[in-house]
Amino acid sequence: MTQLQDIKKVRIQHLAQAKAAGQKTTMLTAYDTPTAAIFDATGIDMLLVGDSMGNAVLGYDSTLPVTLDDSLRATRAVAAGSSRSLVVSDLPFGTYEASPEKCFDSAVALMKAGAEAVKFEGGARVAPQIHLLSQSGIPVMAHLGFTPQSVNTLGGNRVQGRDDASAKRLAEDALAVQDAGAFAVVLELMPATLAADLTARLDIPTIGIGAGPGTDGQVLVWTDMAGMGDWQPSFAQRFGEVGAALRVAAQAYGSAVRDGRYPSEEQSFTS
Ligand code: KIV
Repeated sequence: MTQLQDIKKVRIQHLAQAKAAGQKTTMLTAYDTPTAAIFDATGIDMLLVGDSMGNAVLGYDSTLPVTLDDSLRATRAVAAGSSRSLVVSDLPFGTYEASPEKCFDSAVALMKAGAEAVKFEGGARVAPQIHLLSQSGIPVMAHLGFTPQSVNTLGGNRVQGRDDASAKRLAEDALAVQDAGAFAVVLELMPATLAADLTARLDIPTIGIGAGPGTDGQVLVWTDMAGMGDWQPSFAQRFGEVGAALRVAAQAYGSAVRDGRYPSEEQSFTS
């Protein structure tokens, strides 16, 4: 098979082929045009317009306050910045759970804004939603394990599937979302052995976050991945120090303005 990195435009079929060929897939969150353009140009396969924007860039304590309007605006921006990556947009809390019809309306709005697939949280309980969307031409990525929109029922950011009963429930949910038509599933915060086992049992690709190395691909929140803030979860690696670089640039700009070094004569217009 052609290497995934040589594909000019990533589509859901390429992700299935990558799983069959044992090639790992890459996904990062993006919430605006400039970061989407950088990740797209570096060959990241999927850009997730995640509701993690709530914590990462909107200043909220959780993903719960994020609205469909927030997600629509960010989806338009990310779609404008990407050409190769598959753009996947999250359905925010409250926009899909109540019925397949409500889910369909929210997903259609995101697709019209430039999403190429949608993601939402839950297993068997949202199988009817997954079925309706995938039958209607809207690819669905499922999301199992720790599901941040359920933080209040899960009792905080906790690793899921540690005991036999909850591991069994997760396996049932994984098969339910696959049977309903999901093209891929995010596995968040679970033991590596469980994620590897689910990956082996499923035909669809798994994308892990805090789920060890045995999944078909990995996803990270970009601000954690690039060292934008002072803290990141223990499973995330800082692959850069973007926050520190921005601080240096802002300090240099402030000093140059205060000292009268910026703008120079060359940077000023003559009449
Ligand atoms: O919103 C998000 O960024 C996510 C990832 C954590 C998978 O759902």
